[in-house]
Amino acid sequence: MLKSIMLVFVLLLTSHAVVIAKSAQTQTQAAVVTAHPLASQIGKEIIAAGGNAFDAAVAVSLALAVVEPYGSGLGGGGFWMLHSAAEGEDIMVDGREVAPLAAHPNLYRNNDGSISKDSVNGPRAAGIPGMLAALELISQRYGQLPWQQLVQPAVALAEEGFIPHARYQKYLAMRQAVFNAEARRIFAAAPLQAKQKIKQQDLAATLRRIASLGAADFYQGKTAKRMVAAVKAAGGIWQLDDLKQYKVLIRKPQLTKYKDLTLVLPVLPTSGGLVMSQILAMLETEILPLKYDAESIHLLVEAMRRAYRDRAVYMGDPAFTQVPVEKLLSADYAKAKFADFNPEQASLSSDLEYAAEVKGEDTTHFSILDQQGNYVAATLSINYPFGSGFVAQGTGILLNDEMDDFALAPKQANVWGLVGGVANEIQPGKRMLSSMTPLFIRDQERLLILGTPGGSRIISMLTLAALRFSQGLSVDEIVAGRRFHHQYLPDEIQFELDALSAEEQNKLTAKGHKLKQLNRSYGDMHAIEWQLSSGKIKAAADPRGYGSALVFD
Ligand code: GLY
Repeated sequence: MLKSIMLVFVLLLTSHAVVIAKSAQTQTQAAVVTAHPLASQIGKEIIAAGGNAFDAAVAVSLALAVVEPYGSGLGGGGFWMLHSAAEGEDIMVDGREVAPLAAHPNLYRNNDGSISKDSVNGPRAAGIPGMLAALELISQRYGQLPWQQLVQPAVALAEEGFIPHARYQKYLAMRQAVFNAEARRIFAAAPLQAKQKIKQQDLAATLRRIASLGAADFYQGKTAKRMVAAVKAAGGIWQLDDLKQYKVLIRKPQLTKYKDLTLVLPVLPTSGGLVMSQILAMLETEILPLKYDAESIHLLVEAMRRAYRDRAVYMGDPAFTQVPVEKLLSADYAKAKFADFNPEQASLSSDLEYAAEVKGEDTTHFSILDQQGNYVAATLSINYPFGSGFVAQGTGILLNDEMDDFALAPKQANVWGLVGGVANEIQPGKRMLSSMTPLFIRDQERLLILGTPGGSRIISMLTLAALRFSQGLSVDEIVAGRRFHHQYLPDEIQFELDALSAEEQNKLTAKGHKLKQLNRSYGDMHAIEWQLSSGKIKAAADPRGYGSALVFD
């Protein structure tokens, strides 16, 4: 059952006094916050065993692959933002999936021009996974403990099983119709009402091989061969070369200033950093004082509308697409883009006239801080809940459906309702555009390590979080705060159940906004706050989810 949701209605705090940190103290505590208590516990145990935040991130990623099969896994990918205390350096590890070598821009177009469901369901939906390549790199380059020690807890979880909670059951009900026989056998066989454990013996065997042979087993060994054979037999286009050629990338994060904050953000192929920076740059024009009433919600969604439009038009994998990053980030551009903002009237996202529904949630986010001051924010995904619904026989690995994050055709909305163009069209070996945005936010007094799942809404949720941080709110308030969203198309403000008061709704409607109240909450934000002058650590798991936040010595 969902924890009760306390939607925090936030008013502007009168001028938040910036406390100047005397000197950043080394904290004595560590923290782990993930979407599942079993994964949080494993992170804590790895740190207690002498591991650092990077070791814990590897073990937690693998544990989540077992206990949150609908959110992330070996068959998927993600972005890991690392801060190394020793180097004083921020690093982005890009383990995003890539399109198979046999892919092409029209992969999902039917003969009559319509788009098939193959980008979401079944083996043709799967990009080449980056998860294990990323984890091995993090362990080898930044970890302290042996690889086998990091994989072992996931092996034990897969063997011993876990009891699925209501979110698992909800996603299972939503997706099991598209499962192949293997997926059904593993994830849907247990009588859920009886709270029977989900055990994953094939996955345990695969993980054991990976513990001794490393990622090579996944990309070139027995696991690679089994996955390719299963995908091919079911009509997919993977080849052994796809896996062999996969490359994890290290990227330099983008630093964005907003008032007295510095945001350390992931870069393309996720759009999150760029879009958030654009929204914040437009807000810096400070046409209205930012408080959370109808006027400021109007201001915010107008900034969101414009930034998400640029996402659709310009953004894609920078290895394949010339993205005008500098222009998009410039203050002049933000000013020009927001020059037509009208405080009384909603703009129109007019040139594409269809509407698309954002249907589900996916993905997972965790944050980790160790006692040495290393930290990690990681958002991992297999895209839609339970990914493609296809488990490669004999591996226990559920494959992603990230191919749907490409723009499949002009004006064609993906499962998140997002549109895109040639910048994000399918090309062999190309990374599909993402919205995942694991990030760090720093000011002189505090550091926040955070992120959330939620498809296209990830970026608006984290923008609201950054604004709440800049207003001095606590980590609990930041994570619990009410959520609303605009993504250019469909041209509507979406908001969580009861997140806007009747008065706010009336005022926004009077300005010409179309409103869409969802019948549920969304997101599963996990954050750690480090107060730099006192060394105090707090962590918060989203009250909307099942996660757990552990702070320990
Ligand atoms: N698959 C969701 C995202 O990467 O944005």
